[in-house]
Amino acid sequence: MTNIVTEYPVKTLDGIELLPEGTELTEEILKELANRNDSASYDSLSFMDYGNIRQDLFIFINYPPYHIFFSDLEEFQYILKIMESVKLPLPVLESMEYFRQNDFQTYRHSLMVFMISILLAKNLLPENIEFFSKVTISSTHDIGKICVPLEILKKSTPLTKNEHKHLKHHAVAGYALLIYFLRDHKSFIAKLALNHHERRDGSGYPRGIELTNKIVEIIAVADVYDALIMPRSYRPISYDNRTALELITTMAESGVVGWDVLKALIAQNRMEKPNYHKIVIPEEKRGKAPSGNLYGKIEAD
Ligand SMILES: [Fe+2]
Ligand SMILES: [Fe+2]
Repeated sequence: MTNIVTEYPVKTLDGIELLPEGTELTEEILKELANRNDSASYDSLSFMDYGNIRQDLFIFINYPPYHIFFSDLEEFQYILKIMESVKLPLPVLESMEYFRQNDFQTYRHSLMVFMISILLAKNLLPENIEFFSKVTISSTHDIGKICVPLEILKKSTPLTKNEHKHLKHHAVAGYALLIYFLRDHKSFIAKLALNHHERRDGSGYPRGIELTNKIVEIIAVADVYDALIMPRSYRPISYDNRTALELITTMAESGVVGWDVLKALIAQNRMEKPNYHKIVIPEEKRGKAPSGNLYGKIEAD
């Protein structure tokens, strides 16, 4: 396994430094991190009943194109039931409130990635859906962003090389935070935070490993899709839905993501919700990327 090293410190919201910069995450360190929090007495609370999550979700699903994505009432009830069964430790939920107050785009994104991915998984991994729903709960994949300064998260001009490195820190930071909060050094939820920016062809980060786990891949695709179709600080105008799907098609063509996940995404965007096996991917690409897109533009320090 490629070594994982913290490029910046990992801190909780109340300022406790869990790991200093430059820590190699060996099995021993991870075990110690999971045990360190043993005496904490916080509760696990219902995800849906925390803060404004329930009301906010009902608002978000009406934004186009989500109004089509979630147009099947039966499917929507199904996701709601799953979400209602999720409980999370208080500090994990508090990170959601932190994003809601300080970086609303990350808050909305965190909720939507779970909702999108659960529908994709319903199609792609029906036999594992229960496990999937337990491990993919939205709020956690980007939790490491609590360790990235808000000025970087919300910057609307190109990031410098160092700022970009700091932003990427959220994958490893999320891994460490979740091991600590969930008190489990082998937590799949933590691994998901670590690996959600890895790609099938090894072109991702933090380790550049080839992504082989279907659950992580579904989250990775839901993550890219939501990032494209919603406005972001680095791109005030979002991609239209067609262009976003075409861009993810290009990613499938070059082996970055799998065809099956792309097909499930396209199926969900059709009113009649066909099985993903039946989707024929159009070869023609007519979409146009929005102007003012700074994604991937890095400035010298
Ligand atoms: Fe992320
Ligand atoms: Fe994300």
